[in-house]
Amino acid sequence: MTKIRAAIFGGSGYGGSELLRILLFHPNVEIGLVTAGEHAGKLVHDVHKNLRGLTDLHFEPTPDDLSVLTDIDVAFFALPHGQAMALVPGLPKGVRIIDLSGDHRLNDPDVFREFYKADHPGEIQSEFVYGLAETNREAIVSARHIANPGCFATATILAMAPLVKSGLLTGRMVVDAKTGSSGSGAKAAANTHHPQRMNSFYAYKPFTHQHVPEIAQHLEMISGQPASLTFMTHSLPVSRGIFASCYLETSANLSNEDLRNLYDTFYANSFFVRMVDGSPDINWVKNTNFCDIAVHTKGTEVAVFSAIDNLVKGAAGQAVQNMNLMFGFDEKTGLVFTGGNP
Ligand SMILES: NC(=O)c1ccc[n+]([C@@H]2O[C@H](COP(=O)([O-])OP(=O)(O)OC[C@H]3O[C@@H](n4cnc5c(N)ncnc54)[C@H](OP(=O)(O)O)[C@@H]3O)[C@@H](O)[C@H]2O)c1
Repeated sequence: MTKIRAAIFGGSGYGGSELLRILLFHPNVEIGLVTAGEHAGKLVHDVHKNLRGLTDLHFEPTPDDLSVLTDIDVAFFALPHGQAMALVPGLPKGVRIIDLSGDHRLNDPDVFREFYKADHPGEIQSEFVYGLAETNREAIVSARHIANPGCFATATILAMAPLVKSGLLTGRMVVDAKTGSSGSGAKAAANTHHPQRMNSFYAYKPFTHQHVPEIAQHLEMISGQPASLTFMTHSLPVSRGIFASCYLETSANLSNEDLRNLYDTFYANSFFVRMVDGSPDINWVKNTNFCDIAVHTKGTEVAVFSAIDNLVKGAAGQAVQNMNLMFGFDEKTGLVFTGGNP
């Protein structure tokens, strides 16, 4: 079987670790290059000890001249914000890009500047498609490059897309989202440090989280209407997982059955979305590419709960799902694995 060659920029971080865990066992992929910053030169399995005995790859420094990478078919960027957009223009034209950072998610340069405090990537942005397969599959199939959605954005949009698309919503969408500490990456910082976060719970970045405009932009694309959204983020005392609680109002009374039918129909061809009764639970999506969703209604009030693994469906798993679609592989290839019980 012909394999495509992948490069991973930023393979020593948490997103890179998950890309390696998935791509090393993908039947259609060979890893041609994996880079790191301060971990360059080390064996991959010395940094990601879960990969011991499974790979002899080394982390390499970012090449000075990226134009020599003509044998690479797809490049994944799992670097801090601001770095992918500096490197992308240097790659050979034929290389397809999947950017896990926020660099290529926002179309409006002013909004980008406001939330990322940096200049927008400019013209090349028009070549990037928002990589949420469940709402944008056709565009991804024919995309040249992919802006992989943010983790909070993934959980939130998947929770609300069927209702947003239905045109039944009225009023403001209110989202209360929570994340585990791995959402902040592998480097320790005072506010993400274990003694600070364990057994604790707090809100952060009220009204200013960088996923607010990304969620609004994509919901507007789905509905064709401006999105009226309040989105708040919180820190959960767990390592992995995102849980989004979304509160919505409909213009007509819906029964629980009506609502569930709407979601079942919308996600009928989306293997990685599972509708559940009661509440989703981070435990059952952890380490997987699944998003579990539950819906509840009382008259015109609706509550939707969703849970994902921020590093898999919220990052590396979704990136591989997008690669599969771009290269004509089955969307599920390399991604059908469960977490553990418990
Ligand atoms: N964590 C999540 O849940 C999540 C979810 C969705 C999207 N994302 C996005 O994905 C990207 C990666 O996130 P992450 O959590 O994997 O971050 P991370 O754990 O901090 O990893 C960052 C990676 O970038 C490398 N790097 C940093 N500065 C570098 C430099 N100057 N030159 C070369 N390499 C450099 C690091 O290498 P060294 O450590 O070797 O220096 C590491 O491999 C971010 O843009 C993030 O916003 C993260």
